[in-house]
Amino acid sequence: MGRKKIALIGGGQIGGILAMICAEKELGDVVMIDLPQMEGTVKGKMLDLMASRPHDGYDVELTGSGDFAALKGADIVLITAGVPRKPGMTRDDLTEINLKVMKSVAESIKTHAPNAFVVLTTNPLDAMVYAFHKFTGFPKNQIVGMAGSLDTARFKTFLAMETGLSVQDVSALVMGGHGPTMIPLIRTATIGGVPITDLLSAEKIEEIAERTREAGTEIVQLLGNGSAFYSPAAAVVEMAEAYLKDKKRVIPSAALCEGEYGIDGYFMGVPCVIGAGGIEKILEFELTPEEQNLLETTLNAVKTTVAETGI
Ligand code: LAC
Repeated sequence: MGRKKIALIGGGQIGGILAMICAEKELGDVVMIDLPQMEGTVKGKMLDLMASRPHDGYDVELTGSGDFAALKGADIVLITAGVPRKPGMTRDDLTEINLKVMKSVAESIKTHAPNAFVVLTTNPLDAMVYAFHKFTGFPKNQIVGMAGSLDTARFKTFLAMETGLSVQDVSALVMGGHGPTMIPLIRTATIGGVPITDLLSAEKIEEIAERTREAGTEIVQLLGNGSAFYSPAAAVVEMAEAYLKDKKRVIPSAALCEGEYGIDGYFMGVPCVIGAGGIEKILEFELTPEEQNLLETTLNAVKTTVAETGI
């Protein structure tokens, strides 16, 4: 049996880290694809990574291409193409420019890798996944947006940092749109099974929830030129690995809801089962009236951004 083929669309910061982690985990052969004028960059990055393999001994092939026909045979496509935020910008400021990118990427994937599982990271995330779904007409289990796994990882990170306890023992869930209306669900958060409400004060927990909602913006401001890339790449790999190894992981992801949580026809962060069938299932549980209100608010934010796409 041959190795899996992982196609990365976009040779920027997230793409580079993605290629490195995919190779280190030996998830499959990696091809990094970008526009023809970027061919030298992606070929150079992948050759550089090829030469790092002997240190750890991982036997996967890494190649770069400026031709989207290189998508052929991909089992999974990870899209990081598009323009990132600069300080002072919201994710929604990127709608117009990134929509054009999504349209052409969608057409290429439809032509060259119509059966691949597709994970998107392009912002504004929930609207870009929605548009990609409309552009391709792919079945809903085949398309997902990466946001919830990143937002949840940030929530877990801040909880571990505040308590000084291992991040490995933190369990939590962030639902909703990938923006300031996302919902860090306090009552789902535990450390080693102990509810965080028994470990931290209500004020501290609210501070952490707020930092989680604004974590992407905090990094944009610190970097001064571009947005986060290490944690988004790690979050995408978590989803890719769940698919490639049929792990049935439960990962919050932007999936198409058709009735779940009362959402109909929109992609938004919900707990998803990811396995060989892609998005195999959305797990549902009953929200409190307060959580339901927050969900309504975040859904309205997603609807507004989707409306701005004009699709
Ligand atoms: C972030 C970007 C990737 O949240 O949306 O950092």
